[in-house]
Amino acid sequence: MQRVPMVAGNWKMNFDHREATAFVQKLAWNLKNRKFRYDRCEVALFPSFTSLRSVQVLVQSDRLRIHYGAQNVSVTSQGAFTGDVSADMLAALGCEYVIVGHSERRKYHPEDDANIVDQVRAVLADDMVPILCVGESFEERRQGIELDFAVGQVHDVTRDLSDEEASRMIVAYEPVWAIGTGMVATPQSAQDAAHAIRESLRKQFGDQVADTVRVLYGGSVTSKNAVELIGEPDVDGFLIGGAALDVNELTHICMQT
Ligand code: G3H
Repeated sequence: MQRVPMVAGNWKMNFDHREATAFVQKLAWNLKNRKFRYDRCEVALFPSFTSLRSVQVLVQSDRLRIHYGAQNVSVTSQGAFTGDVSADMLAALGCEYVIVGHSERRKYHPEDDANIVDQVRAVLADDMVPILCVGESFEERRQGIELDFAVGQVHDVTRDLSDEEASRMIVAYEPVWAIGTGMVATPQSAQDAAHAIRESLRKQFGDQVADTVRVLYGGSVTSKNAVELIGEPDVDGFLIGGAALDVNELTHICMQT
C-alpha cells in the first residue's frame, strides 16, 4: 500500500501570529517556485494556539495546500478548566491534526498514558487525526529495550481503539535523546523502530490498519539527513522541531521527502 509521506513542522513555543503567517506565506511561495508536488507529500504545520486562527484565515483565503494542527488538546470538552483548549475548539479552527503525547508534554506536564488515551479519543471524536508521539530515553536505549519501549507506548494508548479508530492515527517515533540534540537516529535504527511499531499494529489490528498508519520519525531531522531517513521503507515522513523554524531549511526537507 502506498502511504503519502508527511513533513510535519512542530513549532513548539515559537513564533507569534505575525511571524507564523509570514512563515506560512514564505513556505507556500518557496514550494510554488520549486513546483513542489503536494500530491506526493503532505506538509503540515503546528503553530501555538494563539496563531491557529491567523493561520486558518491565511490558508483558507489563499487556498494554500498546507495543512495545520495543534500541539496539544484538553481531554474535556468544556467547563471550568482554566487555560485548556478543547478538541471542539480546534476542530472549529480547521485543525486536521493534533500532536498527542509529545515527550515535552509528558515531561513538563502531568500527562500519562491514561491522559493520552483520552486525548486521542477526544481528537478522533472531532474527526481530527492524532499524531501519537512515542520513543525511548537514552537510558532505555542503553539497556537495549528501545523497541519494546516504543511498541509498548503505542500499545498502551491504542489497545482499546477500534480498527477504524486506529486506522485514522499517525505515530511519530521520536527517541527522546535525539530531540533537539543534533544526535539523529541512524536510518537503520529509525527503520527498526518504525517497522516494530507497524508490525505490532499488524498483530493488534490486522494488515489494513498496519499498512495505512503512517509512522513518522522525529529527532534532529535536517536537510542533511532527511534523504537517507525517508529512504527507509517504514519511515513515512518526519515530525520536525528545530529545522522547522527555518523556512528555507523546511522547504528543502519538503523537496527531499
Ligand atoms: O516535535 C518535534 C521533535 O520534538 C523533534 O525536535 O527536530 O528539534 O529534534 P527537533
